[in-house]
Amino acid sequence: MTEWRRVRCPVQGLLVLVVWGCGHDFEPPDRSRRVANAAAAYSTELFDSIAWESQESRVRDGNAIYAEDCRRCHGQLGRGDTDYSRERRLEVPSLVEVDWRLSDLDALRREIYVGHETGMPVFGDGGLTTRQVDAVAAYILDVLRPDVFGAEGA
Ligand code: HEC
Repeated sequence: MTEWRRVRCPVQGLLVLVVWGCGHDFEPPDRSRRVANAAAAYSTELFDSIAWESQESRVRDGNAIYAEDCRRCHGQLGRGDTDYSRERRLEVPSLVEVDWRLSDLDALRREIYVGHETGMPVFGDGGLTTRQVDAVAAYILDVLRPDVFGAEGA
């Protein structure tokens, strides 16, 4: 997965300058523009043609994506507050709030697709396919949250 903010690290920053100096027309689009573009591109219809063999395979894929792309910030149990996020001074919200505004699949997929200007990556413009966005959203709603809340659900 490519994250543009990585260019802030000195070595890659230097690389950008070198590329720049060579006259190439390369500039990472800024975060707010990427968020705005992803918000404009988002539609529930993007997900209409996605078919899963079973809910099991959907959440299995989602689990792998969560481990790869989300866990370092959101934590194993979705509560945030990881070393990774603390080091970067990111305020990562818990995904296991009881009355969560994103307990709706479509709202959650949109949030993951569009990202946020202040830390949450934009996944809809290349980081994840819509199928992967769907899988990880289903994993959060159908496995992660019920696991954390136990049999009572939430
Ligand atoms: C680099 C750290 C980071 C990574 C990686 C990351 N997030 Fe986030 N996430 C954040 C931050 C920070 C916020 C709060 C919004 C903001 O300020 O950007 C957030 C917000 C969210 C929200 C909104 C929660 C709410 O209650 O408002 C959801 C849902 C979410 N992330 C899901 C995911 C998923 C799913 C992945 C993996 C595909 C992921 N995030 C990867 C940092 C991250």
